[in-house]
Amino acid sequence: MYFCGRKLMRMKIGTIDLGERPVFFAPMEDVSDPSFRRLCKEFGADMMYTEFISSDGLIRDAEKSVRKLDIADYERPVGIQIYGKNPEAMVEAALRCEEAQPDLIDLNFGCPVKRVAGKGAGAGLLQNIPLMLEITARVVKAVKIPVTVKTRLGWDENNLPIVSLAEQLQDVGIAALTVHGRTRKQMYKGEADWTLIGAIKENSRMTIPIIGNGDVSSPEIALQKFTNYSVDAIMIGRAAIGKPWLFKEVKHFLQNGELLPPITIPEKVELAKRHLSYSLERKGDITGVFEMRQHFSNYFKGLPNFKETRIRLVTETNPNTIHSILDEIAAQWGDY
Ligand SMILES: Cc1cc2nc3c(=O)[nH]c(=O)nc-3n(C[C@H](O)[C@H](O)[C@H](O)COP(=O)(O)O)c2cc1C
Repeated sequence: MYFCGRKLMRMKIGTIDLGERPVFFAPMEDVSDPSFRRLCKEFGADMMYTEFISSDGLIRDAEKSVRKLDIADYERPVGIQIYGKNPEAMVEAALRCEEAQPDLIDLNFGCPVKRVAGKGAGAGLLQNIPLMLEITARVVKAVKIPVTVKTRLGWDENNLPIVSLAEQLQDVGIAALTVHGRTRKQMYKGEADWTLIGAIKENSRMTIPIIGNGDVSSPEIALQKFTNYSVDAIMIGRAAIGKPWLFKEVKHFLQNGELLPPITIPEKVELAKRHLSYSLERKGDITGVFEMRQHFSNYFKGLPNFKETRIRLVTETNPNTIHSILDEIAAQWGDY
């Protein structure tokens, strides 16, 4: 296939073949859990990651951290993401992750939240690049599977090292780099700036794949990012929350140049039921229902006069009753 006069290349991370113009699902705490990843995979996401895992928590066997190692064969290729600022802990955690047999390990150097970046981990490492490189080099040496990095443009508008940092990370052996086009200071505000992501791709010394991330919310924007910045893949985060079918819409548009018809409420209801069944299967009745609550809210956001039904949906504990409420939604808002 040809694209803007260029032959489209298959993207590879190590030996993982991700096809042409792949679309990744971003790691997101409390969102990219196993059941939601399964749906995103069914809708065509080409690569997925666990929620980030604290290296300190993992090596202490903290239940929350260990639980996040839960990956399944049907979601491959899948990466486990870890964060931390202590090189020994990061190496030990990476070895622990490797035992769970992911396709790769991703190092989070982009998380902006205070409890992480404020303590020098995540995006905090953008203020200590020698330590970031030391952690990366040591993890790369310690494990046999590919190691990738996800980070931001820099700490703030006066500190934007990403183009040279990309080279340094490549030199210590990472297999791919994801860049979110914001600084730590921006958190999630303003608009993602992809200019420097494009500049990394223009650097002739770069050979590893570059995954662009930030504000891809529609098929048209996805195509525009591939076209304008020549990235090897795009990664979608927030726009897929409550909308896992976005992957199908984006991939269909990239392949055929056509937009799919919008999903209907009865289709969303069927999807919510399927999601619930995956969650129950994976987490059991109590946690399975509990973890679905925010997903239910996300699926039906924006429906008129929905408040009372929403409250019932997110407080009900019996899966059969939840099914009945979902059927009511399909019947009541079916034509919306
Ligand atoms: C609720 C939430 C949780 C997130 N958790 C993680 C995480 O665990 N690891 C990570 O690398 N990025 C995390 N991110 C950042 C996303 O992966 C992504 O980089 C960011 O949202 C920008 O992409 P988007 O504009 O497509 O959402 C999170 C973002 C959100 C909104």
